[in-house]
Amino acid sequence: MTSRWLRGLNPEQREAVKTVDGPLLVLAGAGSGKTRVITHRIAYMIEQGVPAEQILALTFTNKAAAEMRERLKAMVGRVVEKVTLRTFHALGLYMLREEAAHRRRAGRFVIFDQGDQMACLREIAGRLRMDRSFDLGAVASRISAYKNAFISPEAMEASDDPYEQATQAFYPAYLEMLEAQAAVDFDDLVCKPTQMMERSKACRSRWSDRFQRVLVDEYQDTNSAQLRMLRAIAGEHMNLCVVGDDDQSIYGWRGAEVKNILQFATDFPGGRTAAFFFSATTVRWPRCWTWPTRSSRPTLIGIPRAC
Ligand SMILES: Nc1ncnc2c1ncn2[C@@H]1O[C@H](COP(=O)(O)OP(=O)(O)OP(=O)(O)O)[C@@H](O)[C@H]1O
Ligand SMILES: [Mg+2]
Repeated sequence: MTSRWLRGLNPEQREAVKTVDGPLLVLAGAGSGKTRVITHRIAYMIEQGVPAEQILALTFTNKAAAEMRERLKAMVGRVVEKVTLRTFHALGLYMLREEAAHRRRAGRFVIFDQGDQMACLREIAGRLRMDRSFDLGAVASRISAYKNAFISPEAMEASDDPYEQATQAFYPAYLEMLEAQAAVDFDDLVCKPTQMMERSKACRSRWSDRFQRVLVDEYQDTNSAQLRMLRAIAGEHMNLCVVGDDDQSIYGWRGAEVKNILQFATDFPGGRTAAFFFSATTVRWPRCWTWPTRSSRPTLIGIPRAC
């Protein structure tokens, strides 16, 4: 008997929902039913006997997470409460608390938002006697970029750029302020648990055992730190399904890492990668997409009409 979660889907969506093992990349246009693949795939896995506790679904906004939870609840009922359905940042916060409990450390810390962060930078600017016209926002973005690239203040390279030079002074002072106040900022919520997993195999195994099925909506919006977080959690079992928009024109202005999509099959190898193009009007493979290497190009299953 066919699963009821395979009904109400087009053939390509159905194929994506049924491919539950191994890495899966789903590329499709806006409004073409990508999120529907995620919700049906979760319902399908639960029906197939996958424990809901092992399922992790990640979104980018709390609103998207709440919507997905509602959609799923209407499908599977209360078991949805056992599925971990969060934003990357909310997952990171949860991981930090759990890891603190595991190490029997106090899991209490404050989270600094952008306003708190700017207050810290203003205080440091005062100490450093910076000119009032100095753009602290530019320093904040540089610090964020270094954090997301996992570059510590000691590892920064010398530069002639005045903002880079200022960042060299601000960055370590800012980290000290966070530490002194037992605070983490938004970047830390992704970077800190990722570092913990990268540094400790035991920690990594705890999370990859816990979340044996990982799904990501809006994959085109992931940055390099989020990719590393995913690699740490799903790198061993490779049961990772990501769905993203195949319209390359959106990447430039969003500043997201288009390379995360291009590199998907290299980051998550295993020969079971699939790409589906089910935008209602066009099948745009491979005209718009140039894959950096042959091995990074996903094996196309579904509708290879345009190849
Ligand atoms: N096979 C289908 N049959 C009927 N309705 C569908 C099908 N696939 C998707 N839909 C409907 O189309 C709408 C858009 O679907 P969905 O939100 O999953 O698309 P999306 O690709 O995630 O959109 P976005 O680009 O905005 O993220 C929803 O109302 C969904 O229920
Ligand atoms: Mg969507």
